[in-house]
Amino acid sequence: MKKISAFLIVVFLATSFYQCKTSKESLISSPKTLPFSSRVSALLGKMTTEEKIGQLNLVTPGGAVTGSVVSTDVEAKIKAGNVGGIFGIRGADKVRQAQQIAVEQSRLGIPLLVGMDVIHGHQTMFPIPLGLSCSWDPALIEQTARVAAVEATADGLMWAFSPMVDIARDPRWGRISEGSGEDPFLGSLIARAMVKGYQGNDLAAKNTLAACVKHYALYGAAEGGRDYATVDMSRIKMHNEYLPPYKAAIDAGVVSVMTSFNTSENVPATANQYLYHDVLRNWWAFNGLVVTDYTAINEMMAHGLGDLETVSALALKNTVDMDMVGEGFLTTLKNSLDKGVITMKDIDLACGRVLTIKEQLGILDDPYKYCDESRQEEIMSQEHRDFARKVAAESFVLLKNDKNVLPLKKGSSIAVVGPLANSRRNMLGTWSVSGDFEKAVTVLEGFREVAAGTGTSISYAKGANISDDPVFAKKVNAFGEEITIDKRSPEDMISEAVGLAKNADVVVAVMGEAADMTGEASSMADIGLQPSQVKLLEALKEVGKPIVLVLYNGRPMTLKWENEQIDAILDVWFGGTEGGRAVADVLFGSVNPSGRLTTSFPVHVGQIPVYHSMLNTGRPYRGEEASKFKSNYLDIPNEALFPFGFGLSYTSFEYGDVVLSAPSMAKGGNIKCAVTVKNTGNLEGREVVQLYIQDVAASISRPVKELKGFQKISLKPGESKRIEFTIDESLLSFYNTDLKLVSEPGAFKAMVGPNSRDLKEKAFELK
Ligand code: BGC
Repeated sequence: MKKISAFLIVVFLATSFYQCKTSKESLISSPKTLPFSSRVSALLGKMTTEEKIGQLNLVTPGGAVTGSVVSTDVEAKIKAGNVGGIFGIRGADKVRQAQQIAVEQSRLGIPLLVGMDVIHGHQTMFPIPLGLSCSWDPALIEQTARVAAVEATADGLMWAFSPMVDIARDPRWGRISEGSGEDPFLGSLIARAMVKGYQGNDLAAKNTLAACVKHYALYGAAEGGRDYATVDMSRIKMHNEYLPPYKAAIDAGVVSVMTSFNTSENVPATANQYLYHDVLRNWWAFNGLVVTDYTAINEMMAHGLGDLETVSALALKNTVDMDMVGEGFLTTLKNSLDKGVITMKDIDLACGRVLTIKEQLGILDDPYKYCDESRQEEIMSQEHRDFARKVAAESFVLLKNDKNVLPLKKGSSIAVVGPLANSRRNMLGTWSVSGDFEKAVTVLEGFREVAAGTGTSISYAKGANISDDPVFAKKVNAFGEEITIDKRSPEDMISEAVGLAKNADVVVAVMGEAADMTGEASSMADIGLQPSQVKLLEALKEVGKPIVLVLYNGRPMTLKWENEQIDAILDVWFGGTEGGRAVADVLFGSVNPSGRLTTSFPVHVGQIPVYHSMLNTGRPYRGEEASKFKSNYLDIPNEALFPFGFGLSYTSFEYGDVVLSAPSMAKGGNIKCAVTVKNTGNLEGREVVQLYIQDVAASISRPVKELKGFQKISLKPGESKRIEFTIDESLLSFYNTDLKLVSEPGAFKAMVGPNSRDLKEKAFELK
């Protein structure tokens, strides 16, 4: 217990700060009573009001704090029955200690729900989620979540705050790195895969954990890409484009949901009746646990919805069950109950849902089932590391490869330069809460290891700082020194790198963003390479040797100049623990890159949002020279620099024409859409064959194309495969103005190709 006190941060959260006044809000009615098990009902029957409210309180002793408040007096609160769950601690022994306090020293001995931000791996870190999505391989992604669950449960945990499935089309938003990109079809498949990976088939098993889909809802559409900012969109857009991945997670059986910080229709999500009461609980019939995001209840005061008592009651009435860190529930619900603003039934429903998840996980029977110290060896096993290396390589996207600069030739002389080439601190990427960057492999190390004994000469110079701006660096370095500003002058650093480049056959420039230039609270207005790095590239360019840009980034970046000037560009996101080795595997050609973008890369920040499934305008621009009175910019193109679905390979593929099994289909029927793809290069390679559909005429304007299918295939040199998609009504349906899911007879187009831009098409009709 002494040990536990050591990790409980003691900052007093003054409850008196939240002075309450009577709510005059008219609150929404309670949902119908949920059927809890007899065990949960019996437990509820034994609990005092305070104990029930205590179960709704989620605390953190300070492990991963993303807001200004951390929980105080945690140990005393657990003893008093004022805590239902805890996050930010891990380790079978530490969790056991915390659990012992709850089980042995609180009146009813109800065990704690123990959570953590397990986002892209637990201790063995995989690529950031945006990178993972670029594998276009839901089965592989499911496996990463499975490995994360095995490690996390061996580390004392039973609840992961993942998957994050917010559709994001604004690369200025730092949290675009945490999701699966711009598309709801792919995003939904990945959401389902992750839930299955975490939860498995049996939530009560020792090595599965409860997933928590977040952030419900619409968080990715923040105005201006500024974190936590307003979201405002039509309900048609919500249901067709933004809500499907959350729904997919619910349908896959996710047992918990996290609220989002943003408003929607001027009401913060945490109190948003439409999103929660109407859609999540009633329409989608979600009966599981809803937890707020970090202090999201308290933040409703700043949103202008009233004092803490008012907003806490609003959240509870909105079917929110657990209050993360803010303690609005703990400190005000009793008052609201006494005043009749909320009812005991509201509290019972919330408490019953907290107890139910504990029952599902099996901790009511065995509070220490995730505290098995003998499972330690399952964490960061060689098998997990090897898998992480393979996964990282799958996430990389080859954006350019002029004159086949890549793969690099073993036996050549390579200058490895750039601020990310040997920066262990930055390899894991954002939200690597339990990852130890000291265990990560850098690109330079990966290079030296993979090229060892091949007569390849590798020289290294940092060449530039990630940024030369100390004010900017200080902001980014909030969690540790990711941007190190060298004591040498930028000129000295550049001249060292240029010296190496002169003596090399090829330059590999490892550049981009520091890990925490993306993630939460990491919005950027300028999403290009930092000036310090552009200067280095310019100087290297003058040397005249081929340059390969290896790009670390958590968002689509503006790369117009780089695309014009640099010979090859490999986007490696943040590849995780084994990322450095995986970069070497791909650059030296033992792995042929097969990642494809899941977000469009803008030419210029002024284009944002640019995404493949836009609606047409009444004045579409089709590339005419004189383009007045058309929907276009005078100074930049409309199209993305690298479109959604794009990615090259070391081999090449040729697509035959699209062949449909029939020119029309009946409602309830289907047609087959086939294309033959041939590997026309000299290497075996994998291709992601993509199907897009356009509903040409409908009761509402429909996107110019929407992803509706894909297959990742492998082809040997010279080999052809016929790929077939089945188009049925589900792929043609959409939410209409009455928010009914309908398919409407009329003309459609099926389009197939290697990315959302280079497509062959065939028309068909739905009768
Ligand atoms: C983030 C969540 C995260 C939570 C707990 C919040 O600031 O928005 O994604 O799960 O903190 O760490």
